[in-house]
Amino acid sequence: MQLINTLTILLAAAGTSLAAPAPTSSTTTTSIQIEERGSSTPLIDLWKNKSFLDLKFTGSGTLGTCFDLPSNFQNIASSGKARAGFRCTIWVKKNCQGTGFSFNEKPGSKSFPDWIDDKASSWKCVKDE
Ligand SMILES: *[C@@H]1O[C@H](CO)[C@@H](O)[C@H](O)[C@H]1NC(C)=O
Repeated sequence: MQLINTLTILLAAAGTSLAAPAPTSSTTTTSIQIEERGSSTPLIDLWKNKSFLDLKFTGSGTLGTCFDLPSNFQNIASSGKARAGFRCTIWVKKNCQGTGFSFNEKPGSKSFPDWIDDKASSWKCVKDE
């Protein structure tokens, strides 16, 4: 009994002194990895043709942040969907300026209205509520 108590105390002491520095560095590493994964979460899919057909662009990034479409996908999108749980808006102008057009995951927008069809150049997604 006495031996067990002594061993327990020794183990507890060793555990405390060894554990102290280790979690600090591993916590830092973990949070950086999560942040990187979070900022590359797919949020929006845009297609060149109506009805979700032809060339597809998937936009990843931070919720609530505006992104300009890559040059090879500007002024060509005709349909789009938000990923599950999000609501996305696209703009004719860059930097999400002016009037936007919004859609969700289901049904998405299989045919953008004329005023923004083949004209979108920026996008932003938020949590759908
Ligand atoms: C996309 O639309 C163009 C023009 O309307 C058409 O020629 C082409 O076949 C379509 N492609 C697909 C994969 O739907």
